[in-house]
Amino acid sequence: AVDLTAASTSEALDDIVNVRDFEAAARDRLNRVHYDYFASGAQDEVTVAANEAAFGRRALIPRVLRGPGAPALETTLLGQPASMPVLIAPTAFHRLAWPEAEVATGRAAAAAGVIMIAAMLSTVTVEDIAATGAKLWLQLYVQPDLAFTESLVRRAEAAGCGALVVTVDSPALGRNERGDRNDFHDLPPGMRCANMGGDGHVRDVVLSPEISWRHLDWLRRTTSLPILLKGVLHDADARLAVEHGADGIIVSNHGGRQLDTTPASLDRLPLIADAVAGRVPLLLDGGVRRGTDVAKALALGAQAVAVGRPVLWALAVAGEAGVRRLLELMRGELANAVTLLGAGAPADVTRDQVVP
Ligand code: FNR
Repeated sequence: AVDLTAASTSEALDDIVNVRDFEAAARDRLNRVHYDYFASGAQDEVTVAANEAAFGRRALIPRVLRGPGAPALETTLLGQPASMPVLIAPTAFHRLAWPEAEVATGRAAAAAGVIMIAAMLSTVTVEDIAATGAKLWLQLYVQPDLAFTESLVRRAEAAGCGALVVTVDSPALGRNERGDRNDFHDLPPGMRCANMGGDGHVRDVVLSPEISWRHLDWLRRTTSLPILLKGVLHDADARLAVEHGADGIIVSNHGGRQLDTTPASLDRLPLIADAVAGRVPLLLDGGVRRGTDVAKALALGAQAVAVGRPVLWALAVAGEAGVRRLLELMRGELANAVTLLGAGAPADVTRDQVVP
């Protein structure tokens, strides 16, 4: 059982200096099966490793004597202000990490002024997450039961969500072998997919290979909320997304949890940025662990990035306080990187400042 007293959480944070420190601390605190669920990827986890390695393969070139002044990190995405171009990626089942689950994450997001993308498979309802005051977007897996999908869309609208994030890299579940070895295929007793009908069992969630552009067209007609497609890696799909009325694209391989051996998301970003040519905002997730990683992604064509696993580690270490600390660390590192690069804002770092 996790000790939830304020003293224990602040003590847990004492030794945390960077984002990576959270993972080691979380590994100590989490049940092994749940740690594996968060950490794992598909099959050989080639893509999991590739995501982080892609940032390591790129170097940053500072510009000098530009007098950039104090860095301005604030940004606007799809008309919505955020305190920095770092979002919380949608990850399922926060209750495995911390009893207050997505409510703790939402409170931290609200305090930090960052956009949280809530997962459809959250363990508290989207309404309860919205009540934290976080700037919220809702991620969806389009369910073939369109009446159900529409009901979720209406709930997102009513809860004040600023956008829908449709995950398109999941016509089936990736093959997670750590999950197979641990026999982890559903939530423990007392936890459920709170947005879903019935008992909220994971096995009742449908990842359907029938989902197609027709469903996106349907969704486009069904809501006036901005729609982002998450999980695009092919430049032709990025063009199609724009043609079908998507308002944004998240370049992502699902943190290496779906098709293994895809390239790192960062490696696909420049090509997709060229294909989209500024028509819609681009986000990137996968392997972002440092302020310098954020700077690299923005220089290569993203307007913002999202972080997945680090949020889960921080939540497991100290709940809301942990996620607040994580976001502070990211903000501090990004501000420092931008200043050292000679830029006044993250968006001012240019493509020529990133080299192999
Ligand atoms: C995810 N991700 C994810 N994505 C999504 O669209 N719906 C979901 O329910 C989930 N669930 C989920 C659970 C866990 C445990 C992880 C680690 C990830 C993918 C997530 O949004 C994001 O694409 C990656 O996590 C980004 O990579 P990093 O930051 O974890 O390296």
